[in-house]
Amino acid sequence: MDVLVVGSGGREHALCRAFRRSPKAGKLYCASGNAGIAQDAECVAIAPDDIKALADFAQSRNIGLTFIGGEVPLALGVGDEFAARGLNAIAPSRDASQLESSKSFAKDFMARHGVPTPRYVTAHSPDFAILELESGDFGDESAPVVVKADGLAAGKGVVVAKNRADAIAAISGMSELVGTAAAEKIVLEECLTGHEVSLLAFVDGENFALMPPVRDHKRIGDGDTGPNTGGMGTITDASLLNGDELTQITEAVIRPTLHGCIREGFRYRGVLFLGLMMTKDGPQLLEYNVRFGDPETQAILVRLEADLVDICGSMISGTLASSEIKWRPGSSACVVLAAEGYPGKVRTGDVIDGAQDMPTGVEVFHAGTALDPQHRFITNGGRVLGVTAAGDDLASTLDLVYSGVGRISWPGMQYRHDIGK
Ligand SMILES: Nc1ncnc2c1ncn2[C@@H]1O[C@H](COP(=O)(O)OP(=O)(O)O)[C@@H](O)[C@H]1O
Ligand SMILES: [Mg+2]
Repeated sequence: MDVLVVGSGGREHALCRAFRRSPKAGKLYCASGNAGIAQDAECVAIAPDDIKALADFAQSRNIGLTFIGGEVPLALGVGDEFAARGLNAIAPSRDASQLESSKSFAKDFMARHGVPTPRYVTAHSPDFAILELESGDFGDESAPVVVKADGLAAGKGVVVAKNRADAIAAISGMSELVGTAAAEKIVLEECLTGHEVSLLAFVDGENFALMPPVRDHKRIGDGDTGPNTGGMGTITDASLLNGDELTQITEAVIRPTLHGCIREGFRYRGVLFLGLMMTKDGPQLLEYNVRFGDPETQAILVRLEADLVDICGSMISGTLASSEIKWRPGSSACVVLAAEGYPGKVRTGDVIDGAQDMPTGVEVFHAGTALDPQHRFITNGGRVLGVTAAGDDLASTLDLVYSGVGRISWPGMQYRHDIGK
């Protein structure tokens, strides 16, 4: 069957490569893709938020399966649009997507269904949020508190404030940072300490299949310094969660979530992403995403040994329980190479050297590239490439990935040297 992937980053490139490996996938399209994706799929110029045009395209080309990469089309209801037209898509409904598109909806949902999550309050305006803080419910003036914009904010809507003054500054500046609509409501949250880990699952409405646990690295600089980014690298490794922890998360978070979706009238079908903090009192859920993460996807999918078309079929037909999903044992890592200036204003148009000459087993996923008139890859975004590999253990995997990184260069290229360390 012909397949359409929606999005234009490294996540979508990894999805295209995984579909490429399936003998069941026919023609592969990506809307709107990038120069690297164009080597694996036919790129079509449809914006991810034009959900009618996406459905028109899928309908007219008789696409058998559409996979939505990012959150924006999901929040706009692309899943409902495809379902109404009888088109198969991996795209949770608009109702289900509220688990990501509204932090206050997600927190209230967790509370209704007993999912462990940090104590919170939703303020219905930034001014009320400041009053909440001043009431002392989140501790005195020196207490840390987490400030979250309610709506989608492309990773910019959360500030872990180290005291009340910083929290008030974050609240006051939120509208300018993420837009007034996304910052209309503010969630204030107790600040937890522990180890962060993400756990993703394929979900068919009732059943789920876990993927390997994954950890990302959000700050730009080595040693977790400097400003936040969309993600500078990821690893998967068995050490991230042991068997007991996986059982705790399954019982305390995943099962109540799927039951909650059914009880509230929207079945969850698609990829479910849990952002977790492992504390001394057990797992606490920080957030849901209703889709794959970027760059988590890159590290996860290089370990997938099963056929992604089959997995999607099982999610759609509700038969995940009887399908076995094989993963390559061991570890994986993805190191993001970013352009000069990222995560601020970036310089683009630099010629990328060496990306086609990787050691055996290393894959390069393109996130922000274009071709120049001489058909050379040039930088065309903040995050440019994701150098990715799987291996038998974390140390050898990282050696392999960084040997690939060492062959690539362009003026101003930056990356973290300590992914997974
Ligand atoms: N309650 C909390 N306590 C401590 N850190 C938090 C808390 N909530 C969020 N964080 C930190 O902020 C980051 C972003 O928060 P998250 O809820 O995942 O929002 P988003 O990914 O939408 O920006 C988390 O990855 C975590 O590092
Ligand atoms: Mg997050």
